[in-house]
Amino acid sequence: MKAVTWQGTRKVSVENVPDPTLQQPNDAIIEVTSTALCGSDLHLYEVLGPFMTPGDIVGHEPMGRVVEAGAESNLNVGDRVVIPFQIACGKCYYCRKGLQTQCETTQVTEQGMGAKLFGYSQLYGAVPGGQAQFLRVPHADYGPIKVGDELPDHRYLFLSDVLPTAWQAVAYAQVEPGDSVAVMGLGPIGQFAARIAKHLGMTVFAIEPEADRRAMAARHGIIVHEPGEESLTAIREATDGRGPDAVIDAVGMEAHGDAQSALGKFAQLTAQFLPEKISQPMMENLSMDRLAALYAAIELVRRGGTVSLSGVYGGQASPLPMLTLFDKQINVTMGQANVKRWVDDILPLVEDAADPLGIDDFVTHHLPLSQAPEAYEMFQKKQDGCIKVVFDPQLA
Ligand SMILES: NC(=O)c1ccc[n+]([C@@H]2O[C@H](COP(=O)([O-])OP(=O)(O)OC[C@H]3O[C@@H](n4cnc5c(N)ncnc54)[C@H](O)[C@@H]3O)[C@@H](O)[C@H]2O)c1
Ligand SMILES: [Zn+2]
Ligand SMILES: [Zn+2]
Repeated sequence: MKAVTWQGTRKVSVENVPDPTLQQPNDAIIEVTSTALCGSDLHLYEVLGPFMTPGDIVGHEPMGRVVEAGAESNLNVGDRVVIPFQIACGKCYYCRKGLQTQCETTQVTEQGMGAKLFGYSQLYGAVPGGQAQFLRVPHADYGPIKVGDELPDHRYLFLSDVLPTAWQAVAYAQVEPGDSVAVMGLGPIGQFAARIAKHLGMTVFAIEPEADRRAMAARHGIIVHEPGEESLTAIREATDGRGPDAVIDAVGMEAHGDAQSALGKFAQLTAQFLPEKISQPMMENLSMDRLAALYAAIELVRRGGTVSLSGVYGGQASPLPMLTLFDKQINVTMGQANVKRWVDDILPLVEDAADPLGIDDFVTHHLPLSQAPEAYEMFQKKQDGCIKVVFDPQLA
């Protein structure tokens, strides 16, 4: 079969690889009919290289048809299924608590990490991913989400990651109808976090540097701004001078810093208090830029409010403004989305003929799998209005 493989920093290629086979009685094999490209794939593309091996199959947002079903899976050949990005057992302590990304059966203990993820480096179990023509699905007695035949793939596909991630970001923001939320970053996750918050009755602001991403959010009733001190002031003024009740960070570690912003200055200030040995390489290499959105979130949220992180962060040396966090009494929530925990809340909205989350206005590029290398570059550089790419592996 054909699959998208990691080959090095900023390099993926489509290769011929062996077809997957059943290995456990609760496995299933699916023929992938749609598979999406995610902001998290850009972390593999860019900074997580040390945890990748050339040839690794990437991708974690697939759906398709079951072509082989293990005796202990709860699937039948022909079932149409969406595959959550994490592999969870559904039975252990954490799965029963709705913390499927911490599943004790699939935890990658040798790396000290949580549940295995499809196509997401040695840190998460080096499991072959879903940007491929076929996929082996472990724990197919629990993970796969069976869906009907009425709607096209793009309506169901984002149950694999984007919709539950955005839903959890809003749930973890601890807000109620009538509250205000600001979303940092309007990539795929930010788009839906903003729309879900709006759908649930909140006033939603968003900050995003790319004009076409702001335009998409504005079409769905989101009040949009460019990054910078003026936007923070405008949002504060629109929330009685206090700042929003919650800020959702949907940017993560590929953030683009604005050296002129107060938060750039704030990061510099924080770094002044660190020993030079730590602060220098940090300033040069990592934190300043990459934490720009997080610093802005901490500055913007009202006192006693919540910063809900859905953007993925890594690394150790990043300084956090503990004085501000403590003094403003800020709650910080974060983590990989626990997909199955939210499916029952989201599925009715996905299947609603009125499309209340506007899923029909989301995918900007439908491409054959063979165009993955160009698509990764286009998505990372935000060219050609690219917001969400869906590959059709059968057109490989
Ligand atoms: N928690 C989870 O389970 C989970 C699941 C999926 C994705 N993610 C993470 O969520 C994040 C977003 O994913 P995505 O698919 O939307 O990716 P993306 O890279 O397309 O989105 C990031 C957006 O942030 C914007 N941005 C950059 N710097 C900014 C700044 N300083 N202020 C405001 N906006 C800024 C970018 O222009 C871009 O539109 C990534 O870090 C991804 O890894 C987490
Ligand atoms: Zn994803
Ligand atoms: Zn489990």
